[in-house]
Amino acid sequence: MIEQREHWGSKAGFILAAAGSAIGLGNIWKFPYIAGENGGAAFIFIYLICIALIGLPVLIAEILLGRTTQRNPVGAFKKLSGKPFWVTVGSMGVLAGFIILSFYTVIAGWSIGYIIEALKGSFSLFSDPSIASSYFDERVSDVSWIVGYHTLFSILTMLVVYAGVNKGIEKGSKIMMPVLFFLLVLLVIRGVTLPGADKGLAFLWSPDWSKISGQSVLIALGHAFFTISLGMGAMMTYGSYLSQKDHIPSAAIQIVFLDTLIALLAGVAIFTAVFAMGQDPASGPGLIFATLPVVFAKMPGGVIWALLFFLLLTLAALTSAISLLEVVVAYFVDERKWKRHKAVLIFGFVTFLIGVPSALSFNIMSDVHFFGKTWFDNADYLASNILLPGGGLFISIFVGWIWGFDKVLTELKKGSESLFDNYPLVIKAWKIFLKYLSPVMILIVFLHSVGLLESAMLQFRTSWVMISLALTAVYLLSKRSK
Ligand code: PHE
Repeated sequence: MIEQREHWGSKAGFILAAAGSAIGLGNIWKFPYIAGENGGAAFIFIYLICIALIGLPVLIAEILLGRTTQRNPVGAFKKLSGKPFWVTVGSMGVLAGFIILSFYTVIAGWSIGYIIEALKGSFSLFSDPSIASSYFDERVSDVSWIVGYHTLFSILTMLVVYAGVNKGIEKGSKIMMPVLFFLLVLLVIRGVTLPGADKGLAFLWSPDWSKISGQSVLIALGHAFFTISLGMGAMMTYGSYLSQKDHIPSAAIQIVFLDTLIALLAGVAIFTAVFAMGQDPASGPGLIFATLPVVFAKMPGGVIWALLFFLLLTLAALTSAISLLEVVVAYFVDERKWKRHKAVLIFGFVTFLIGVPSALSFNIMSDVHFFGKTWFDNADYLASNILLPGGGLFISIFVGWIWGFDKVLTELKKGSESLFDNYPLVIKAWKIFLKYLSPVMILIVFLHSVGLLESAMLQFRTSWVMISLALTAVYLLSKRSK
């Protein structure tokens, strides 16, 4: 007998779960350092434009695909088109889920590891960043440490997904997301009340326009995709557990708002503390595992703050990891008629195994290179630079051009009639952004991230030219389509 497909218990449950997917390592680990490196407020401004003009329209499209078809990414394209090309696009999403999860659990594992390190009192040894970073290097070169925490985090992810959409993902998100928010607010209050915090705020909020180049626009857009979990069907899968009466645009706005808010708050919490403790802000990815431990070591009551911070990071990563595993599980449940429990156990274990070489890329396999990169870097590159932007591109093309826009609008209207009646312009804008702006911009990011843009004569200034061309094209096409 085929099991009845589960649905979210409430709209709030969906929003918290989807925001949980969006809010992850991308917000707390990555956003603060890329904003710091790329001109602070100037970068944030560009990032917000990318989120509003491209991220949000594509998010609405993804959720809509899921809700209409009530299927995983492969099933969704099968149902609406059936053409092998589009089914392949869906399969790419499932594949991306596997791949991202396999290395995501490795980094998330470090976060659990650092909770334990904080408890053990290791942070008190960190009088300067070089000690903290060699300590970090020692930890990740220890095979049992890194694989052990990768295993632990993978098991936690499997447990939540095993319990199901309602009892696992929804219930888990309803508990974890408010705790995450509370922890972050505490850390922000701690940060801004430290003497010298104003230097951190000035660093984050004073725009340095000289650092903005075509390159930073591309980083902003690429990050917009990763942080809202777009391009691989995670939001499609979560959307497939929605009922037809829910207002998709309003849900999407809330998800994007929460995701952005948390990224900005994380930036404030981190930079106020870093500056107040006299540390160097521009330390790239090492910001969290090398700089922050020193900051905590210097702070009064630092162990507690370290614990809260790494707990926050672990929760954020867990609510994202479950959405990655859910995409894979939904595929096997819908398309192969597997039982959820069997799919979770088997594919949770398979992704764990694929992740082991990622963990070993930091130690015994650090010299084993495929295509010039370690296993971990390959997995990250393939997913973040190829599969996600590629998926995003095809999703916007499919919804914008292939599905049939009348059908798209009929589906979108379900649950959001008031928006259609009162703000028809908003719907028009969505159509234009989705049909023209998103595909062009994503294509630029995609070509850039696979290196084609640079090699083909284009230095960073060219990206500006392309963006202007894209905007002109959008303008002309929208005039024609009137
Ligand atoms: N959005 C998550 C983050 O910011 C990562 C993610 C990407 C999760 C794609 C699911 C799908 O960390």
